[in-house]
Amino acid sequence: MTHNKSFEYARKKRAPLNSVVMFKKEIIWKYTQSEINWPELANLYRVAPLGEKNPKDLKLAFSNSRYKCFLYQSGSLVGAGRTLADGVDCSYICDIAILPEHQGTGLGMKILLKLVELSEGHKKIILYSAPGKEDFYKKAGFKIMNTAMAIFTDSQNAIELGIIKT
Ligand SMILES: CC(C)(COP(=O)(O)OP(=O)(O)OC[C@H]1O[C@@H](n2cnc3c(N)ncnc32)[C@H](O)[C@@H]1OP(=O)(O)O)[C@@H](O)C(=O)NCCC(=O)NCCS
Repeated sequence: MTHNKSFEYARKKRAPLNSVVMFKKEIIWKYTQSEINWPELANLYRVAPLGEKNPKDLKLAFSNSRYKCFLYQSGSLVGAGRTLADGVDCSYICDIAILPEHQGTGLGMKILLKLVELSEGHKKIILYSAPGKEDFYKKAGFKIMNTAMAIFTDSQNAIELGIIKT
């Protein structure tokens, strides 16, 4: 299975090689978690904001995730994302976040497209958007699911956040 809309977006957005790009500070990509500072990742999610996630839980969640991306600039973590995937049928993308001062510079989309690329071969790639951010995912080819359902431990909170309906 190819994810054509995502690849088309990536092709269109590929920046031309010019002086502005050459003088930008380099972004380093990491795909393994051996050097991850978990409190630094928790801080990224806190300030993004994507909620309070404690470092121990993050280590467990990322350890159980098939694909993961961490973006660094000048030694500091500026973005992250992960994917739970079974290797053949379904890949679930979650926890994409970018430091506020780097938001709007294309990094979030780069992480999303990389996780889609890493998920190549799965019959479906799923995610749920934070309310109001659906258009970000639509740009990469994601479509609204008619029958998606979920059980949240704190369903009241999920209702208040606009993630599920009663
Ligand atoms: C949402 C988030 C990951 C987007 O990353 P980003 O680096 O700021 O976004 P990008 O610069 O890569 O944007 C890529 C494209 O998506 C669009 N976009 C970005 N955020 C958007 C949003 N909230 N709603 C609609 N479109 C959005 C951009 O305008 C851009 O469009 P263009 O290619 O036509 O210019 C980032 O803003 C973030 O970390 N937010 C807080 C945490 C969060 O909400 N994570 C997502 C949980 S579902």
